[in-house]
Amino acid sequence: MKNYAKKYDRTEFNAELNKQIVEELHSGYIYMAMSAWAEAKGLHNFATFMKVHAEKEEFKHAMKFVKYIQEAGGIVEYGTIEAVPMNWSDVETVLKEAIKHEQHISSRIKLLWDLAHEKGEVYAFEMLTWFLEEQMEEENLFEDLLNQLELTGKKAGYWDHHVHHP
Ligand SMILES: [Fe+2]
Ligand SMILES: [Fe+2]
Repeated sequence: MKNYAKKYDRTEFNAELNKQIVEELHSGYIYMAMSAWAEAKGLHNFATFMKVHAEKEEFKHAMKFVKYIQEAGGIVEYGTIEAVPMNWSDVETVLKEAIKHEQHISSRIKLLWDLAHEKGEVYAFEMLTWFLEEQMEEENLFEDLLNQLELTGKKAGYWDHHVHHP
């Protein structure tokens, strides 16, 4: 790995990977806040959904980037995780914000993908392909929840009974 590290200028790619760790932890943080909001509103299944999503998806995504940086001979640097909103007007707004956030993360993964190809960071290709597919799934996951909410006539209490994380 040391020879590989010397061969390329990995500074920019390494910095973007470190930025992505914060993006993933920030995603988890946003979903934890949404979970707390849902819990307070009595939407217990949705609260569990968001908590599980933060724990089982977003924090694991962050760790995947940590592992890659270390295996590729880079330096892990932890940046600041921004504060997140704690209040939303209704569950529809929460879901629309989650979808918008996942679209933002998808664009980040595409940026990493482009940079990996530009820099010849070949070992990252497989991981980033996995993340691209993962992003498609996650965008669909939240879009499905929004569609289901609309099918119940936006009756959040009734909708919540059928919410569970896959
Ligand atoms: Fe993620
Ligand atoms: Fe996500």
